[in-house]
Amino acid sequence: VVTDETVAPLYLERVLDSIAGSAGSIPRDRCIAVAIPAGEQHKTREQWARVTDELLGARCGRDTTIVALGGGVVGDLAGFVAATYMRGVPVVQCPTTLLAMVDASVGGKTGVDTPAGKNLVGAFHPPAAVVADPSVLATLPARELRAGLAEVLKHGVIADAGELERLRALPPSPGSESFSADQFVALVARSVAIKAEIVRADEREGGVRKVLNFGHTIGHAVEAASGFALLHGEAVAVGMIAESRLAERAGVAESGTAGAVEVAVGDLGLPTRIPHGLGAAQLLALTRADKKTRRSTVEYALPRRIGQMAGRDAGWAVPIDDALVLGVLEELASG
Ligand SMILES: NC(=O)c1ccc[n+]([C@@H]2O[C@H](COP(=O)([O-])OP(=O)(O)OC[C@H]3O[C@@H](n4cnc5c(N)ncnc54)[C@H](O)[C@@H]3O)[C@@H](O)[C@H]2O)c1
Ligand SMILES: [Zn+2]
Repeated sequence: VVTDETVAPLYLERVLDSIAGSAGSIPRDRCIAVAIPAGEQHKTREQWARVTDELLGARCGRDTTIVALGGGVVGDLAGFVAATYMRGVPVVQCPTTLLAMVDASVGGKTGVDTPAGKNLVGAFHPPAAVVADPSVLATLPARELRAGLAEVLKHGVIADAGELERLRALPPSPGSESFSADQFVALVARSVAIKAEIVRADEREGGVRKVLNFGHTIGHAVEAASGFALLHGEAVAVGMIAESRLAERAGVAESGTAGAVEVAVGDLGLPTRIPHGLGAAQLLALTRADKKTRRSTVEYALPRRIGQMAGRDAGWAVPIDDALVLGVLEELASG
């Protein structure tokens, strides 16, 4: 079981007990647990090596199954360990954040960050199973919960305008107490259904899967430039505002799309502006370091309207001029 130091005291014993206590179970003394320090700054090659070395030290063989217990950081890192350990062993994803339940645990992307950018080293390694229990969200800090709602909003913009209506019905800046257990289950199930349908159609991101990058080209730049002071979901929130403005300016989106995204982001208590101190030129340079870069233009996944993405005939990737990007970044950086 790979987890992090925050999740371990909350849920590790219970998970080990349930693995050892289930039918055809693995004796408790054959389960090992490795905890990495919590946080995006530890989704690194160094932690990948550390976890791998722990498995090697415990003489784990090809019959090992890795259980990723935690948020998207643990899921991506443990998934990448599983993808590479003995040339690949199964991974079971047990997401414990809303973001990991609605997004990171589904679709098989694993990897780590490098100083040059996020997720630049990794592998496709679909989980053998995903087990999500929304009751663990009760201990998730409200700020982390809202960061997860950013990816829910993303799925709404991509494929389901009704999701924005449902999010609008929440109290302002919702926390986990704003949801009943049934609402959580419905929320997670809808997002998983949207993402799974897209991933099933295009697992390796040759085409339609690119739409899932909406908000992420600029979002990743903002996340990295903030030195990870912003959470992934927070950076994606402002990235979605920026990229929907780009979509309108480029004549790709219906007018009003960017405004609707901005209102939805603000209602969720997520950042609607680029944090002070991050320069537009610096962010533009970081968008070019993103792995979605092809040739000398940066391609974006852009909405046509809420609930529908643009660019079907162009492989779902719309090349956008740097000058247009710079203009939008300057607007959002200046308040
Ligand atoms: N693979 C994919 O397709 C994919 C998709 C989206 C995001 N991601 C990645 O996911 C990462 C972000 O994931 P995240 O937002 O889950 O961050 P995270 O894993 O850092 O978790 C957020 C924080 O919440 C804590 N935590 C987790 N579960 C908890 C619980 N139940 N109660 C209390 N605290 C808890 C963690 O210890 C951590 O401090 C990013 O690295 C992003 O790139 C990957
Ligand atoms: Zn994301």
